[in-house]
Amino acid sequence: MSMTMMEIEKALKQLRLSGIQATLETRVLEAQAANLSFLETFSMVLQDELDRRQSRQIEQRYKQSGLDERTSLSEFDWGFNPKIPKRTCFELNTLKFVAEGENAILIGPPGTGKSHVAKAVAYSAVRTGLRVMYVEADELLTTLVVTPTLGKQQRLKPALDADLLVLDDLFMARRIAQENADELQALIHKRYKLRRSVLITSNRVIADWDAYLGDTALATTILDRLMHRSVLAEFQGQSYRLREAAGRLAKDL
Ligand SMILES: Nc1ncnc2c1ncn2[C@@H]1O[C@H](COP(=O)(O)OP(=O)(O)OP(=O)(O)O)[C@@H](O)[C@H]1O
Ligand SMILES: [Mg+2]
Repeated sequence: MSMTMMEIEKALKQLRLSGIQATLETRVLEAQAANLSFLETFSMVLQDELDRRQSRQIEQRYKQSGLDERTSLSEFDWGFNPKIPKRTCFELNTLKFVAEGENAILIGPPGTGKSHVAKAVAYSAVRTGLRVMYVEADELLTTLVVTPTLGKQQRLKPALDADLLVLDDLFMARRIAQENADELQALIHKRYKLRRSVLITSNRVIADWDAYLGDTALATTILDRLMHRSVLAEFQGQSYRLREAAGRLAKDL
């Protein structure tokens, strides 16, 4: 004996097939109207479940990523600072560098869109189902240092497991404490061995990094690993933040 619609709904709920549950009524009507075969209908229903599961997984990955906004390259005004390496940014957005375990470093003055581009690339990675960790560099390094209750391996684990680690605004506070520099070195070293990508943004020129790390040898070991397989994108131009602020001021006048 076949089930009633209510019984089917109950069974779908029990089996946690919410994708099928959401579209079943429509699919039944559709199948009747278009006189579809059982297999045609069944494959559509199955696809509904797969689609729902995939979008849920992406949503979960987004939440776990630490990203605070869903940016994209399409909303970026490439005309504002024409010297920004647009092609390199789009190339990064294809995520080939992640597949190949390369790193990326976005360097340039404040407000030129480094974080915007980094977040856009990170969000693209989330949407393809990759595990992403986006974090402000200072915050991560401090967390690694000040949570001594956890073992070192455990502290590093989330930052090691991610397919793409984005360290935003490295050296924002210029000099970083010795223990933070050591954590940075451990992190870069381990990810390098695992061939997992790191994307760094910073408004400090690379030539000054050893001064901020307070140790030339340490800076060399970090840079050596970062740059070995790496894309360097140099941002140039005016701060978009200042442009926005100027726009607001003009409106208020
Ligand atoms: N060319 C652009 N088109 C549209 N929005 C932009 C552009 N450049 C920057 N922005 C916006 O301006 C703000 C500042 O940019 P962003 O935070 O990416 O700069 P940044 O280079 O990371 O600066 P900082 O070195 O201070 O961290 C963001 O809201 C960003 O979306
Ligand atoms: Mg930034």
